[in-house]
Amino acid sequence: MPRLRIPGFGSWGEDPLWATFYDWSVENPRFGRAIWKFGVGTSLDKLYAAAAEIGSLPAGSKVLDVPCGGGVATRGLKPGQNITYIAADISQQMLDKTMAAARERGVADQVHPQVSDVHNLHFADGEFDLVVSFTGLHCFPDPHQAIREIGRVLKPGGHLTGSTLLLDASWRSKPMTVVGKRANLLGPGLTTTQLESWLAEAGLTSIKVDISGAIGYFRAVRR
Ligand SMILES: C[S@@+](CC[C@H](N)C(=O)[O-])C[C@H]1O[C@@H](n2cnc3c(N)ncnc32)[C@H](O)[C@@H]1O
Repeated sequence: MPRLRIPGFGSWGEDPLWATFYDWSVENPRFGRAIWKFGVGTSLDKLYAAAAEIGSLPAGSKVLDVPCGGGVATRGLKPGQNITYIAADISQQMLDKTMAAARERGVADQVHPQVSDVHNLHFADGEFDLVVSFTGLHCFPDPHQAIREIGRVLKPGGHLTGSTLLLDASWRSKPMTVVGKRANLLGPGLTTTQLESWLAEAGLTSIKVDISGAIGYFRAVRR
């Protein structure tokens, strides 16, 4: 299918204007809540609540946020928490935004930005206590491979929390995926069944998927 060249859209690595708009929507709840409710039929507060889990980690923990985007999940991190927070994204521009957000929240000393492709993470097996992956899997060309990599870098007993557009979650999902793919912004997407089976295949257990609008919020634990 031919790619559409829509001004403001394009692959994430090209830093399309859409990326800046998306980040603005998640960092400005006053407008973002309405945009999320109307656009994907879910509450932005669910994303904030999931990110809050980061704040419960003990000192010395290691977290991977992939894709970190503009750093919305750093709102879960507490000043002086003394953890190592790797913020990974394919876009340097998004990493710069993450660091700006982390500075504003007083947590920049704990955040380490790294340009990374989720399909081939340059981290050791079992390196992380927690991986957070919000609103990411549907953007990737190969979400199955992304889940394999996320499973690989989690330590046994480590937790995964994340969210993704799911093809079967809502009437909105398919049209969004078709347009997003043609605009070079989204990947093939995934269904709830694929998410659950790919997580299990990647060594994750206690898998829970909570669907809200077009988004599935998932949690799992590394065996
Ligand atoms: C919709 S944003 C979500 C960002 C953030 N987690 C949030 O919830 O605001 C998707 C992000 O995925 C990043 N991305 C796209 N493809 C990627 C890849 N192959 N590896 C790593 N990051 C990627 C983009 O640069 C963008 O920042």
